[in-house]
Amino acid sequence: TNTIKMALLGLGTVGGGVYKLIQRRSDGMEKNVGANLEITKILVHNMEKKREGVDASLLTDQWKDIIEDDEIQIVIELMGGIEPAKTMILEALHAGKHVVSANKDLIAAHGKELLDAAEEGNCDFLFEAAVAGGIPIIRPLKQCLAGNEITEVIGIVNGTTNYILTKMFEDHMDFAEALAKATELGYAEADPTADIEGLDAGRKVAIMASIAFHSRVVFSDVYTEGITKITSRDIEYAKEFDSVIKLLGVARNTEKGIEAGVYPMLLHKDHPLASVRDSFNAVFVHGDAVDDAMFYGRGAGEFPTASAVVGDIMDVARNLKYQCNGRISCTCYRDTPIKSFDD
Ligand code: NDP
Ligand code: HSE
Repeated sequence: TNTIKMALLGLGTVGGGVYKLIQRRSDGMEKNVGANLEITKILVHNMEKKREGVDASLLTDQWKDIIEDDEIQIVIELMGGIEPAKTMILEALHAGKHVVSANKDLIAAHGKELLDAAEEGNCDFLFEAAVAGGIPIIRPLKQCLAGNEITEVIGIVNGTTNYILTKMFEDHMDFAEALAKATELGYAEADPTADIEGLDAGRKVAIMASIAFHSRVVFSDVYTEGITKITSRDIEYAKEFDSVIKLLGVARNTEKGIEAGVYPMLLHKDHPLASVRDSFNAVFVHGDAVDDAMFYGRGAGEFPTASAVVGDIMDVARNLKYQCNGRISCTCYRDTPIKSFDD
């Protein structure tokens, strides 16, 4: 049959979203990417957990069930953390399986090793969801803006902290309550310290700077400061100055070298980043040809993140079927009638 078989590693917020979105898109898939996509195995930690709407026969807690299955062509890593994710991804790539991941912790520390393994194995290793959730930013930096010398990438790249700051500013919610809400909504990391101390944003800055500046910036190169020291008094002061406080990720390619950091900033309410609220993210890119470009959207959560992961999976599938990345013509498949303006 014309089916590409895939394995999911992790069935939490993002893995669950990817599982559902693959089912939702299944009807048009063959016309779009040239094949049906089927998740045939799902690796989880706890086999006893209740998982509504998921075919329980797909679940396993044994990696060997996946790595030894020659029919599986795509591995989708959505567990998070460094190990065992790193070993599993390397083993998958060495076995000739293509990999899609959203794991910024791993990519910000070991991205080069993983990309080298992918190249050696002639496999795809894609990670659009690792930075700014649903916002397309990795591909634009790597492909669409490749004709530029990029000198600046600045933005709000953590949904949890932007959600907390928005709630503290607009609803006078206290920090702990806002963090609990962000966790409940699926925005926060398994250990939310990574969000509130600026580490998660720092990992994303390292990944963006590496791609934008054709360099190798790792997480330990990035200065990080979070939002835990911001008090309700700071917020009242900011309001007095018609300003808001935002946690910014900043990467600049200067004559003296690359600057990379994450820190809270006071922004006047007329600044375009001041109106980025809730779990939304935004990234500004400055290139010598394009001038300024801005990317905006949901930076975290089940379906926004699944949107980026599924886009990567479909790209891998198209490559497998057509040996042709991003073949636009094959996406024009819907027979939707054109509605006249007179109707
Ligand atoms: P969750 O904690 O919700 O889910 C993690 C899943 O991985 C769970 O299903 C868990 O199994 C499984 N898992 C963890 N460790 C193991 C292991 N050793 N063996 C087998 N299964 C394991 O995480 P998220 O879905 O939120 O995040 C997943 C990844 O996506 C992370 O890298 C995160 O940084 C990234 N990401 C998250 C976003 C978000 O908005 N949440 C946005 C962008 C990226 P079990 O269910 O049995 O506990
Ligand atoms: N915890 C992350 C955030 C998830 O809040 O932005 C998306 O990377």
